[in-house]
Amino acid sequence: MKSILYYFTGTGNSLKIARDLAALLGDTELIPIARVADQQSIAPNAERAGIIFPVYMWGLPLIVANFARKLQVPKSIYVFAIANYGGFPAGTLLQMKDILAASQIILSAGFGIRMPGNYTPLYGAKSPEVQQKLFANENTAIKNIAATVKAGQSAAIYANNPLIDFMFSNFIYKHGSPRIPEGDKTFWVDEKCNSCGICEKACPVRNIKMNDGKPVWLHHCEQCVSCLQWCPQEAIQVGKNTATRKRYHHPDINLQDILDQQKD
Ligand SMILES: Cc1cc2nc3c(=O)[nH]c(=O)nc-3n(C[C@H](O)[C@H](O)[C@H](O)COP(=O)(O)O)c2cc1C
Ligand code: SF4
Ligand code: SF4
Repeated sequence: MKSILYYFTGTGNSLKIARDLAALLGDTELIPIARVADQQSIAPNAERAGIIFPVYMWGLPLIVANFARKLQVPKSIYVFAIANYGGFPAGTLLQMKDILAASQIILSAGFGIRMPGNYTPLYGAKSPEVQQKLFANENTAIKNIAATVKAGQSAAIYANNPLIDFMFSNFIYKHGSPRIPEGDKTFWVDEKCNSCGICEKACPVRNIKMNDGKPVWLHHCEQCVSCLQWCPQEAIQVGKNTATRKRYHHPDINLQDILDQQKD
């Protein structure tokens, strides 16, 4: 039985989850959401379709929300989602459920997996020990998820409690997410930049252009922090406090994996 897994990632956690699940499901195609995001409608040619993405501001990344609005899926296809997050997801998967429901698509299961947080504007990378624990948990979680998906079972849509979900995913997300595209106005590049151009290529939505050998941000940012995390010189900063914070990306994911995500 064929599966398609759509994913969006900045630092590789979502891609790692997608790859691990693909290995357990067999006959699975992985499709970067950034590559199909501009299509008018998206119709998976498979019996199962999964959507795997990070939580941003206790909600869906804007590109993932827009992708979900364009999905066209007959009732015979089993649809599930996996949100991964550094702290807690609140009602992110409920957002996904509602968006799909508006197109008469049933989200049969919504799984949550805690992974190392990557939001350097607020904190540095977790210690290697903490990362290893989270990776071990992911390994266990993905086996349970694969068993549920293979059986085509319905499962709960993972969320916190209704009050938390409302406060974070409705109130804060609703007011904060419209500002995400222009959030790159606080990005800047320091003197360590050697003009290699990797950040331009690592941006999944082509939000960076090189100008006189330095990156310029174009204000249609997803805030995925890929540019910041994959800059080999650690020259990209956000606000005032990121220079001394340790960078993060999933150790099993490499730069080429991230470059492959960029839309043509
Ligand atoms: C802009 C941004 C906002 C984030 N907001 C949240 C959040 O609200 N809750 C949370 O638990 N983690 C949050 N995170 C952490 C990511 O969800 C987490 O690190 C995720 O595993 C990253 O996945 P990726 O490696 O596939 O990009 C945020 C990360 C970024 C970049
Ligand atoms: S990846 Fe880093 S060093 Fe390379 S151009 Fe971008 S900011 Fe400069
Ligand atoms: S500019 Fe940086 S943070 Fe914004 S979408 Fe591109 S890679 Fe992600």
